[in-house]
Amino acid sequence: MTQDELKLAVARAARDYVADRLPVGAILGVGTGSTANFFIDEIAAIKDRLGGTVASSEATAKRLAGHGIRVLDLNDVDAIGIYVDGADEIDHGMAMVKGGGGALTREKIVAAVADTFVCICDASKRVDVMGRFPLPVEVIPMASAYVARELAKLGGTPRVREGMITDNGNLILDVHGLSITDPVGLETRINQIVGVVTNGLFAGRGADVLLLATAGGVKTYTR
Ligand code: 5RP
Repeated sequence: MTQDELKLAVARAARDYVADRLPVGAILGVGTGSTANFFIDEIAAIKDRLGGTVASSEATAKRLAGHGIRVLDLNDVDAIGIYVDGADEIDHGMAMVKGGGGALTREKIVAAVADTFVCICDASKRVDVMGRFPLPVEVIPMASAYVARELAKLGGTPRVREGMITDNGNLILDVHGLSITDPVGLETRINQIVGVVTNGLFAGRGADVLLLATAGGVKTYTR
């Protein structure tokens, strides 16, 4: 199967998961990235069941609206039943590295509000130890050099992502060369660096459900 066929398969599984588990009229959180885009295209078929959606990026909001799917401001909703999003890496404890698309901060906010986080990805994203994918860190622009020096002290090699300004007007530092054996500890430590908005470790609030596309079908894992 091609990568896109795997993404489509897991997007359809996530659509069915939402149709089965999200009460009619409830709010759905929608992630960002190529796998999330497949999911957005799939939920157009069930849009009348949804009370609305909360998007984790401007790009996702635009794609949802293009399908005529209602997009709500997070401040106008009390709860999000399910949040569906991709990941760059996910470990066996359901901690993730996210932010390859640069949307990590809004993704983390939507994930924090959601009752259930459903991660959708293909089997290549499931790893024993995260860190091969560079860890994205969103930083306030004036602090980027300072934050980079602090990140280097943690053993990584930070590089500014060229040409990237986030939806929040900030920069992304991608930290190469980490071996993330303590995801919760590292997530907490990086968030303590002044000038960091968010880092792409989703460990304290990891996934509750993983739908993993494999050549043999979509497998379901729960926390
Ligand atoms: C965007 C993300 C994405 O979920 C992550 O990068 C995976 O993307 P894709 O589905 O394109 O592989 O965190 O900020």
